Amino acid sequence: MRRASQHAVVLFAWISMLGSAAASEPVPTYDDAEISRILSHGPWPPAAPADPSNKFSGDENAIKLGYQLFHDQRLSRGNVLACASCHQPDRLFMDGVPLNRGHQLLDRHTPSLANLRWANWFSWDGANDNLWAQSIRPILTPAEMDSSAEHLKKVIVKDPVLSCGFAKTFNTAAMKTDSEKLLVLTGKALAAYQETLITEPSSFDHFVTALQQNDRKGMAAYPLAAQRGLKIFIGEGRCNLCHFGPLFTNGEFADIGIPHFIGKGKVDKGRFGGIVKLNNSPYNLLGSYSDGSELDAIRTQHIKSQFRNFGEFKVPSLRNVADTSPYMHNGSLATLEDVVDHYSELNEDRLHSEGEKILRPLNLSVLEKEDLVSFLQTLSAPIMVRDQTFSKIKDC
Ligand code: HEC
Ligand code: HEC
Repeated sequence: MRRASQHAVVLFAWISMLGSAAASEPVPTYDDAEISRILSHGPWPPAAPADPSNKFSGDENAIKLGYQLFHDQRLSRGNVLACASCHQPDRLFMDGVPLNRGHQLLDRHTPSLANLRWANWFSWDGANDNLWAQSIRPILTPAEMDSSAEHLKKVIVKDPVLSCGFAKTFNTAAMKTDSEKLLVLTGKALAAYQETLITEPSSFDHFVTALQQNDRKGMAAYPLAAQRGLKIFIGEGRCNLCHFGPLFTNGEFADIGIPHFIGKGKVDKGRFGGIVKLNNSPYNLLGSYSDGSELDAIRTQHIKSQFRNFGEFKVPSLRNVADTSPYMHNGSLATLEDVVDHYSELNEDRLHSEGEKILRPLNLSVLEKEDLVSFLQTLSAPIMVRDQTFSKIKDC
């Protein structure tokens, strides 16, 4: 009895302490420059026009066929790996391990496939300039699915559901389609499906709406720690200079000093190697398989690899970043705390390119680091649910 009442007193004191701490915790205010920086990260989701390089972008039959192909292990040599083996739907379309295995051990970390329809470049090195070419790559790559256009054709022709879906979507029988063309069409259906993977608005997006409408109550629903972290993100942290706009990425490449050695004496050339691959790819936007015009290929036309591209990697979107650990192109940082430590205690000797001009060690305090992590955690929201049945293409 005496014990219980003692506990009650301690509990009461603790609650009132918490209450007074919360009451005295200052609510961040925002000046005009901060407000405009914050608003530039919204609204979410942005407009989503169809991909001009893919005639089947947005086509319902292509989306359903793409869904089926995405989950089909028979696309790989030995029928052992589907796209979904590494890009797992219940893990935001990534795999949660630093480096995964396909037919061989991979040397880059599997990225999430959410919100890719707004990207200009694909892969950590930007070796592709469109989503359908990026979807062909894993089918052919020896370390991933190690398959071929001929194998793919056999699988589609033999399977009644896939061949019916193929004919309905592309108005031509798989059997009569040249295998190279069939590979490209498969990539376009896979891309049409992946374009539908868009996340819901996050609690950060609700804060942006509230801020825009000067809705104090709405703003107060956003945790104070996240608000303080946001101020660091767009302020002294200068994170928004690379992670900008609604996607929290400028869509380009930078070197932030993540080591790029892969094994003994081997280096990941990053963007430098990516540009060489892009220029040599028959599936780039300048090639004959693109359904777009020359205007759509303008970025690709002007790209040349330069020395500064060595060790540059794609600036990843930070949407849902709390759910996509581990981090970086090689999966080398396990937690968001590790990422924030990396930026706070940055080793400038490791930088050798553009990033150098923006990045410097931030020397954040323990509380500031926690606030920055709290902010990053508010960027999460599930993938929008659309037609979950995805079962059958019309009349198949
Ligand atoms: C064995 C694991 C594995 C399989 C299987 C796999 N992927 Fe990937 N995926 C990866 C890795 C690793 C990367 C990063 C590659 C790089 O940067 O070089 C990636 C990158 C991507 C990207 C680019 C994402 C971005 O942010 O730029 C897309 C799109 C993609 N994969 C789609 C697919 C599709 C479609 C399939 C099936 C046809 C597939 N993947 C099969 C591991 C896999
Ligand atoms: C100079 C441009 C630049 C700036 C400034 C920058 N980043 Fe990054 N960020 C990148 C690049 C590039 C990567 C990927 C690097 C790699 O994989 O080698 C990255 C990766 C990340 C990741 C890992 C995401 C993932 O999915 O792997 C997080 C989290 C992140 N940055 C947060 C921040 C924060 C917080 C700040 C500010 C303190 C910041 N960034 C400043 C360019 C930048």
